[in-house]
Amino acid sequence: MRILSGIQPSGVPHIGNYFGMMQQAFELQQQGEAFLFIADYHALTTSPNPEELRKRTIELAINYLACGLDPKRTVFFRQSDVPQVCELTWILNNMATVGLLERAHSYKDKLAKGFMPNNGLFSYPVLMAADILIYKSDVVPVGRDQKQHVEITRDLAIRFNTTYGDILTIPKSKILDHVAIIPGTDGQKMSKSYNNTIPIFDSKKAIRKAVMNIVTDCKGLEEPKDPENCNVVALYKLFAGEQQLAEMKAKYRAGNYGYGHAKQELFELMWEFFAPMRQKREELENNLDYVWETLRRGGEKARAAAEETMNEVRLAVGLR
Ligand code: TYM
Repeated sequence: MRILSGIQPSGVPHIGNYFGMMQQAFELQQQGEAFLFIADYHALTTSPNPEELRKRTIELAINYLACGLDPKRTVFFRQSDVPQVCELTWILNNMATVGLLERAHSYKDKLAKGFMPNNGLFSYPVLMAADILIYKSDVVPVGRDQKQHVEITRDLAIRFNTTYGDILTIPKSKILDHVAIIPGTDGQKMSKSYNNTIPIFDSKKAIRKAVMNIVTDCKGLEEPKDPENCNVVALYKLFAGEQQLAEMKAKYRAGNYGYGHAKQELFELMWEFFAPMRQKREELENNLDYVWETLRRGGEKARAAAEETMNEVRLAVGLR
């Protein structure tokens, strides 16, 4: 079983990335051959500053490794170290109707946010399909926001295979229901573009501030509160054991327990949860050669796997 996923280098990963994708991808690396990459070509669709992109790429690599990516089990690489994905994107573009791409939620979202409607943004799902199909991936662990992209990938692979013969593997997304959409501090999906994230790594002060900004209703300290409809509890659940969660819910219902108390408990638990990863991150920051070398080696392996598929694809479509 080949497992593949990617993440854009668009800033410090947040707990939505961690629970939505990273954690399950790291668990799956025990079960099969995993490919994980930094989607730097995709990042170009929103025109980041070049220096910023380079900086975010290495930071993301450090963060992945610190959070539990094991480069002995996982081929870890930069998307742009495999330019063959652009070649496959071009071939798949001819399978992708404009109507199919116009239906993509992420494109509509980006337009609504005022991004320039460039063709890279429009054909974003085709590049993502190429990422998945070029490695003949079986399983794609992602958060729910990427589900439609994996469905588009399946459509394109089926169209390709129907036209040229059974070459591409039809992948499946793997979305864990309880972490499919991690809410942000305002209750919407946690996302860098909504400015509602809680970063995994930052100063204690900044993380605490993000936690304290979680939106709640305005019930007073002494009033009983509803734990089932509270953003703080929704996030606390990710870190707490059953017993801890039951205790917090009981305190909510009993009253005399303020949202500030709950946020402080959430912050402490979170800070403790990420402590070993913070330590690993510090070590990696002092060993950047190791991080670059890991990406370089991953890139070599990924390129070899991609080239194998491309040889079959080129032959099938009549380019050889
Ligand atoms: P990106 O960088 O936006 O997010 C990386 C992963 O984190 C998940 N995620 C979440 N899950 C639950 N709750 C949230 N609030 C939340 N926010 C983010 C995302 O679902 C994703 O799994 N297009 C992709 C990158 C990509 C890719 C690929 C992924 C490029 N090629 C091929 C898989 C396969 C993206 O922008 O993810």
